[in-house]
Amino acid sequence: MTIIDGKEVAAALRKEISVEVASMVADGKPAPHLVAILVGDDGASQTYVGHKEKCCNEVGFDSTIIRLPESTTEEELLAEIIKLNEDDTVDGFIVQLPIPKHISEQKVIEAIDPKKDVDGFHPVNSGRMISSLPSYLPATPDGILSLLKYYKIETSGKHCVVLGRSNIVGRPMANLLSQKGWDCTVTICHSRTKNLKEMVSSADIVVAAIGISEFVTGDMIKPGAVVIDVGITRVKSDKTKSGWKLLGDVKFDEVAPKCSFITPVPGGVGPMTIISLMKNTLKAAKKEIY
Ligand code: GUN
Repeated sequence: MTIIDGKEVAAALRKEISVEVASMVADGKPAPHLVAILVGDDGASQTYVGHKEKCCNEVGFDSTIIRLPESTTEEELLAEIIKLNEDDTVDGFIVQLPIPKHISEQKVIEAIDPKKDVDGFHPVNSGRMISSLPSYLPATPDGILSLLKYYKIETSGKHCVVLGRSNIVGRPMANLLSQKGWDCTVTICHSRTKNLKEMVSSADIVVAAIGISEFVTGDMIKPGAVVIDVGITRVKSDKTKSGWKLLGDVKFDEVAPKCSFITPVPGGVGPMTIISLMKNTLKAAKKEIY
C-alpha cells in the first residue's frame, strides 16, 4: 500500500511552474497576476486565500487580495467583478466561496469573464470541459488527476465510483475520468443511491467527496483499490494544539491496509488544489485556452 503524498507532488509541480514563470519574466513578459476577492470574514476562507497568496509568491506570480466587508451588496460585488474583467493587468481572478447569503453565487460566477475564470466554475468553462475542449479545470478534480498521473496509476477500463455529485468536485471528476485518455467506467453515487455499499465494493478507484466524515469503511473496499479522499471535516480534538483536527470521508485506518494507493487527510488532495489554480492562472497569462 502506498500513501499518496500530495505535498510532494504539489512541491514538484510548484517547481515546474516557477521555472516557467522565471523564463517568461526573463523574456520580458509580465509575471502572471492572480486576484482573489474575499467578501466578509469567514475564518476558513481567510486561511485559504492566505495560502493562495503564499503559493503565488512561491511560484513568482503577482497576487492581489481584494477584501470587501460582509455588508457588500450584490451590485457592489458585481461592479468589482466587471472592473477585474476589464483590467488588462489581471490574468485571472476568483471570488472565494462561500459569499454572504444575500448575494447570488450563481450571478457572481456567471459575471466572471470565462477567459479569467481560473476557478473553472463558469458554465462556459464547465461546458467546454464536458465537450473535451480546452478549459480551466476545477481545482479539486484537476488536482486528483495530477496525483493519478504522478503515481502512474492505471485508469483505463477501471471502474471508478465517485461519491458525491457537486458541481465543483463529484460531477466534473466523473466526467473527466470518463473522457478519452483516462478511460474509466464511472458510477456516481449520492445521498439517494440505494445500493451504495455494493457499488463502492465493485470499484477499482473510489473518489470520496460526499462530505460525511469517515463514511467509507474498510468493509466497502475491494482489495487493491485506489482510494482518493476529498473530505475535510473539522472536528474538535483534545489531542491537537489547535483543539481541532481534520477528518476525511474515508476511515483511513480501516481502509488503508486494503488499498493499493490511498490519499491521507490532510496532505493528500488538499495541497493539490492550489497548484491547479496556479496552473490555470499560468494558462490564462499565456492565453493558452482563449
Ligand atoms: N471555497 C472553497 N474552495 C474554493 C475554490 O476552489 N474556489 C473558490 N472560489 N472558493 C472556494
